[in-house]
Amino acid sequence: MRIVLGVAGGIAAYKACHVVRELRERGHAVRVVPTRAALEFVGAATWEALSGQPVATGVFTRVDEVEHVRIGQDADLVVIAPATADLLARVRAGIADDLLTATVLTTTAPVVVAPAMHTEMWFNAATVDNVAALRARGVTVIEPASGRLTGADSGPGRLPEPGDIVAAALAVHAEHARAGGDASGALAGRTVLVSAGGTREPLDPVRFLGNRSSGKQGVALAAAAAQAGAQVRLVAANVSADILAGLPAGVDVEHVETTAELEAACRAAQPTADVVIMCAAVSDYRPAEVAAHKMKKSRDAGMRLELVQNPDILRGLVDSRTPGQLIVGFAAETGSPDAGIEELARAKLLRKGCDLLVLNDVSAGQAFGTETNTVVLFHRDGDSVTEVARASGTKAEVSRDVIAGLVSVLSR
Ligand code: C5P
Repeated sequence: MRIVLGVAGGIAAYKACHVVRELRERGHAVRVVPTRAALEFVGAATWEALSGQPVATGVFTRVDEVEHVRIGQDADLVVIAPATADLLARVRAGIADDLLTATVLTTTAPVVVAPAMHTEMWFNAATVDNVAALRARGVTVIEPASGRLTGADSGPGRLPEPGDIVAAALAVHAEHARAGGDASGALAGRTVLVSAGGTREPLDPVRFLGNRSSGKQGVALAAAAAQAGAQVRLVAANVSADILAGLPAGVDVEHVETTAELEAACRAAQPTADVVIMCAAVSDYRPAEVAAHKMKKSRDAGMRLELVQNPDILRGLVDSRTPGQLIVGFAAETGSPDAGIEELARAKLLRKGCDLLVLNDVSAGQAFGTETNTVVLFHRDGDSVTEVARASGTKAEVSRDVIAGLVSVLSR
C-alpha cells in the first residue's frame, strides 16, 4: 500500500527513520513528507535513501505534477510521526501552507498521528483541545508514551516506539478497510489470481460430472480485488457470460472446463501472483475414461462409473508457493454429525496449509447460485488458527470484507 509518512520538527524525528524502514520491510511504498523544521533534525538525504522516493517540504516543488494534492489523493494511509504541538494546531485549523499540511487536507485515507512534545505542551489546553477536535473528525491520535524527553525531564510526551506506531497505523488501516469495506488502493501493485466457478468432468461428449457452483462469489472477489487496485487474473471454470459481465474492465479472464485445465491455468499464473484465491469448486474425482461417443442406456438396471481421483490443486499451489505469496482456500461445509462447520474449517486450514480459509456455510442449499453469502475468514500462523473476519450480505459485500481481511493480513 502507499503510505505517506509526515514528519514534524521535533527531536523524535530520528525515530521516524525506523518507521520508514519497518514499513518498507513489510512491502509498503513510503513517501516521506517532512516539514521544513523536521529537516533541521534529519536531512532530506536520509529520508530519500530510506524511502527510495524524493522529498520536498513546500507546495512549490514539482508544481507540474500538482504534488500538494496528488500525494494526499494517492495515499492509502497517512501517518504523522512525530507530530509536534504546532503541527496538531495547524492540521486542526485546516492550514495548508506546506506540503505536509496540504497532503493531510487533501487525503481521504485514514490519518494516524503520533504526537511527541514536552509534557507541558501536551497538557496545554490548546493542545488538548486540538487533539479532541482531530479525534472527533476521525483522526487517530496515538497517546504519547511516558518517559525520558529531550532534556533531563521526563513525563508523557515521548514518541511511542517505531514498531508500536507501525502496528497501530496498520491496524487503523485494516479496521478502516473492514468497516467501510473500502480497501481502495490497498492491493495496488499486487497481482491476484482468483479461480471461480465449478469444474466439469466429461463422461462422454454430452454429459459431465459437475457441481452447483455458479462462479458468482469468485467473480465478486475478482471484482473486489480489482477495485482494491490489484491486477487480477480470473480463471473461470464454466462461469456464464452474464455472471462474468459483473467484472470491471481490466480483469484478465481465462476460461477452463475440467480440473486438469484449471490446474494448468492456476499453475501457469501462480509464479507472478502475490495472492492466490482458490474459490472454484473443484471436482475431487473424474471418470476413469471419457467415452468417445454418447453413452447409451443399457437394458439392465444400472450403470457403474469408475472414477479416479483428481489432484488437489490448492495443495499443489501451497507446495509450490513463492516467497511472501498469500494463498486463500475456500471451504464449503455443511457440517457433520460429529463436527460443526467452524471446527471442520479450522482443521481444513491446517491440513491444506494455505494462509487463509474462507468458510462458506452451504447447509440447506445456502450459497450456491444465490445472491448472498455468509462467510468466516480464518488465518493460519504456523499451527494456530485465528478468526480474521465474519461477513454476511451480497456476494459483492462479502467479497469486499474478505479482501479487506486479506489486506489486513498482508499488512502484518
Ligand atoms: O477439500 P475441499 O474440496 O473442501 O477444499 C476446498 C478448497 O480446495 C477450495 O479452495 C478448492 O478450490 C480447493 N480444491 C482444489 N482441488 C481439489 C479440491 C478442492 O484446489 N481437487
